[in-house]
Amino acid sequence: MLDAPMERTTEDAALALDEADPLRGFRERFCFPEPPQGSSTRQPVYLCGNSLGLMPRATRDAVLAELDDWARLGVEGHFKKRDGWYRYHEIVREPLARLVGARAHEVVAMNSLTVNLHLMMASFYRPTGSRRRILIDGPCFPSDVYAVASQIRRQGGDPERDLIRLAPRAGEHTLRTADVCAAIEQHAGELALVLLAGVNYVTGQRMEIGPITGAARRAGVTIGWDLAHAAGNVPLSLHEWGPDFAVWCSYKYLNSGPGSVAGCFVHERHTRGAGEHAFRQMPRCEGWWGNDPDTRFAMTGEFTPVRSADAWQLSNPPIFSLTPLKVSLGLFELATMVGLRHKSQRLTGYLESLLTPLRARGLEIVTPSGPDHRGCQLSLLVSADGRALHRRLTESGVVCDFREPSIIRLAPTPLYNSFHDCWRAAGVLREALA
Ligand SMILES: Cc1ncc(COP(=O)(O)O)c(C=O)c1O
Repeated sequence: MLDAPMERTTEDAALALDEADPLRGFRERFCFPEPPQGSSTRQPVYLCGNSLGLMPRATRDAVLAELDDWARLGVEGHFKKRDGWYRYHEIVREPLARLVGARAHEVVAMNSLTVNLHLMMASFYRPTGSRRRILIDGPCFPSDVYAVASQIRRQGGDPERDLIRLAPRAGEHTLRTADVCAAIEQHAGELALVLLAGVNYVTGQRMEIGPITGAARRAGVTIGWDLAHAAGNVPLSLHEWGPDFAVWCSYKYLNSGPGSVAGCFVHERHTRGAGEHAFRQMPRCEGWWGNDPDTRFAMTGEFTPVRSADAWQLSNPPIFSLTPLKVSLGLFELATMVGLRHKSQRLTGYLESLLTPLRARGLEIVTPSGPDHRGCQLSLLVSADGRALHRRLTESGVVCDFREPSIIRLAPTPLYNSFHDCWRAAGVLREALA
């Protein structure tokens, strides 16, 4: 009965969908921001998990426990407690690997996304001969453009010449897989690196990482992925797909807090699959936490890299941001990516069905309509004053964001958003565009 379009638009229908949602209990495990000052709204509709995920309730106590340990134990906290800080980053390794479809030794939680991207390019952007260029997607997140352009200059190149930016076809908003693969093949002889986003930050398009990675590998081109908007949003199979590296942050869909510790994947063919000498000689920025933990304190001055993604670690791990990540990954383990993805597709599909009739009022959904080609985010291109519409949404208690030129991003996340949230957001938009 709920599938009849008219009936889906009622509040009761939204509530019934929530009632039937097996993951609905997870919402209670999160802290929701207060309504904006002076607003008459109830709890805001938080659709901004693509920017900053909400705080799990359990995070506060977990962080306080680490602070207490620091107060009680001082330096002894490195070893003399459960989850001692010396190997603390290893606690998140297995759940993180499961989340991105990697082997445990292929992932490490460290630094922040852009730092990890630079560390990866120090190893994997090695221009030689005619192969000097980097191919990126468009629209590409500005920080990634700065990072690749600065790496090109660092290697004596010129971004004007050596940076290839793919763009969607005229009149289209998103890239076609066939076009991306064709561009890689066409430029193969001059490419030193392909760097693409797993889910595009503006359009919400989910790229076909497997086929595109396959095309790059067949062409003998190194490929890395920025998974900022993909990790915790869409299922990933990094080991099987086989990119050389990937990086992501944990403050969006991974709900680990502002600026929290990021993630990094290095395919095992570059670590355990490489000869010992080759692995040792690989160009890499090195620091003591990349050294074998058993000899780290031998203080010989000779670097013995761990034969895993850990070799790229520079410093001792940031305990107070690993703790929120640990808590968050625990929730992902409970809900499972399979369960979350199932709900996510229904939730976003539901929001889409409520917004599609607004096309006549100047609202275009630029995110692909096929569920396989997107995560949870819907990006709305508005012909009216997009900033004013965004302000209206905010004032009505719908927390979402605005990106130039005139895109409003709504991201119903399956861990804590409800069908009723989508219904409320769509209602505000409908009224605002009336
Ligand atoms: C796609 C993408 N790449 C890179 C970044 C930069 O991340 P950070 O500031 O954590 O380095 C962001 C941040 O939002 C992003 O969305």
